[in-house]
Amino acid sequence: MKVLVVGSGGREHALCWKLAQSPLLTELLCAPGNAGTETVARNVDVAATDIKGLVKLAQAEAVDLVVVGPEDPLVMGLADKLRAVGIDVFGPGAAGSQLEGSKGFSKDLLERHRIPTAASRRFDRSGPAKAYLETCKVWPQVIKADGLAAGKGVIICEDYPEAARAIDQLMEERKLGKAGDRILVEEFLEGEEASVLALTDGEAILILEPVVDHKRVGEDDTGLNTGGMGVYSPTPSMSKRLLHQIEQRIVIPSIHALRREEIEFRGVLFIGLMITDQGPRVLEYNVRFGDPETQAIMRRIKSDLLPILAATAKGELADITPPEWDKRFCVGVIAASEGYPGSYRRGDRIRGLKAASGREDVVVFQAGTAKVGDELLTDGGRVLCVTGMGESIEAARDCAYEAYDDLKWAGKFCRRDIGARVEGRKEHIRKMLGNLDRGSNGAE
Ligand code: AMP
Ligand code: GLY
Repeated sequence: MKVLVVGSGGREHALCWKLAQSPLLTELLCAPGNAGTETVARNVDVAATDIKGLVKLAQAEAVDLVVVGPEDPLVMGLADKLRAVGIDVFGPGAAGSQLEGSKGFSKDLLERHRIPTAASRRFDRSGPAKAYLETCKVWPQVIKADGLAAGKGVIICEDYPEAARAIDQLMEERKLGKAGDRILVEEFLEGEEASVLALTDGEAILILEPVVDHKRVGEDDTGLNTGGMGVYSPTPSMSKRLLHQIEQRIVIPSIHALRREEIEFRGVLFIGLMITDQGPRVLEYNVRFGDPETQAIMRRIKSDLLPILAATAKGELADITPPEWDKRFCVGVIAASEGYPGSYRRGDRIRGLKAASGREDVVVFQAGTAKVGDELLTDGGRVLCVTGMGESIEAARDCAYEAYDDLKWAGKFCRRDIGARVEGRKEHIRKMLGNLDRGSNGAE
C-alpha cells in the first residue's frame, strides 16, 4: 500500500516511524513533513492546509490511504474531498470534525446525548457574558473560545476581573481572531486529567491504551498551557474499573451519538477527560491523534499499524483483531525552545541527537526542527520528543531523561517531572472512586 501522512509535527514523525515498519507498505509520503519524517518517508512540499494541493498530490501519486495528522485540514473538509475522488482516509469529514472545530457544537452534542461534561453557558456578545460572570459565586470559572485556537483558547479565571479581561481579549480585541467570537463559560472541574483515544469507523470501536499528557509548561503543573510537555503510558492510576466506566459512559455513548446524528466518523476520537469525584467528565473532543500522546502510543503498539488504520478508513474495523501492546512503560519528554509557549528562540544548532537516539530503548521524534545543509536547527517551540521505555515508570523516565541530557542547544528546556506523580494520581483517583462508591451504594 502507498500511504500519505499529512502534517509536520512529532505526531507525524511517530506515525511515519511506525507505518514505515509495516510489511504491507510499498511507499510512504509525508506532506509537508519535517527533518524527522524525511528519515523514514518521502517528504513532499505541500502544506497541511493546502486542501486542493493535497487532493492533487494523492491522486497524482495514486495513494491508497491518507492519514491526516492535524485538525485544521480535517475541519477544512480534506477527508470529504479525498473520499469524493475515491481515496480512503483515516480522519473524519468536516461534519464530524466540528467536534473539535466548535466547542459549542460538541457541548450541544454532549448535552443532547446526556454524556457527562462540565455545565456551561454560551455567549456571542461580551456584555451578556460579563453580566453573567458578575453574578457567579463560585470561582474559578473556565472561559473557552468556541473555535480552533491551537491550545490557546482555554482560560481558567480565578475571579471576575480576570474573567472580564479574558472576555475583552477574546471578543473585543479578537486575540484569537474569529475563534473567539463565540465563547463558552464553563464550570471548573477538579480532578485528574487523562486522555482516551478510540479508533472508530462509526460502528466498531477500538480503544487504545490510555495515556497521560502534561499540559502546563512548568513543573508541578504550573504556568501556561502548552500543546503538551510530556507523556506516559500505560497509566497505572486508571484501574480496569475506571476504564470500563469511561468506555460505557463516555466512549460508546459519544460514538452512538455521532451515529444517531448521521455524522460519519472514520478516524480517531480523542477524548480529554477529567476524573472527578462524580466520575469521568468530558473536557473536550479532538478528532485526531494527540501530540505527544501518539509518540508514546506508537512506541508501545506492537502490531502492524497500517492494516488497523486502513480498516478504520474503509469501515472494516470490526474485522481487526485488537492490537498487541508492549507491556513496558513509555515516557516521552518534550525538549522545547526557550520562550515556549510564548514566542521562542529558533535557529539554534542541535547537537547530540545521534548519541541520544543510539541509546537502547530510546527513540527521538522530531517536531520543530529544520535541516540546513548537514546541520539540524531548532525551528519550533516543541523541538523533539525523547521517548524511553522501561519495565517500570521510573526505569522509563531514567531512560528518557538520560537521552534528553545527551541533547544540547542554546535555550533547551524540559519538565523534569514527566510521569513523576503516578503514585499520587493513583491515590487521588482511588479516593475519588471511593467517594463515588459510597455515593451510589457501591453500585458502580
Ligand atoms: P481543552 O482544550 O478544552 O482540553 O482545555 C485545555 C485544558 O484546560 C485542559 O486540558 C484542562 O487542563 C483545562 N480545562 C478545560 N476545561 C476545564 C474545566 N471545565 N475545568 C477545569 N479545567 C479545565
Ligand atoms: N496533547 C494534546 C493535544 O494533542 O491536543
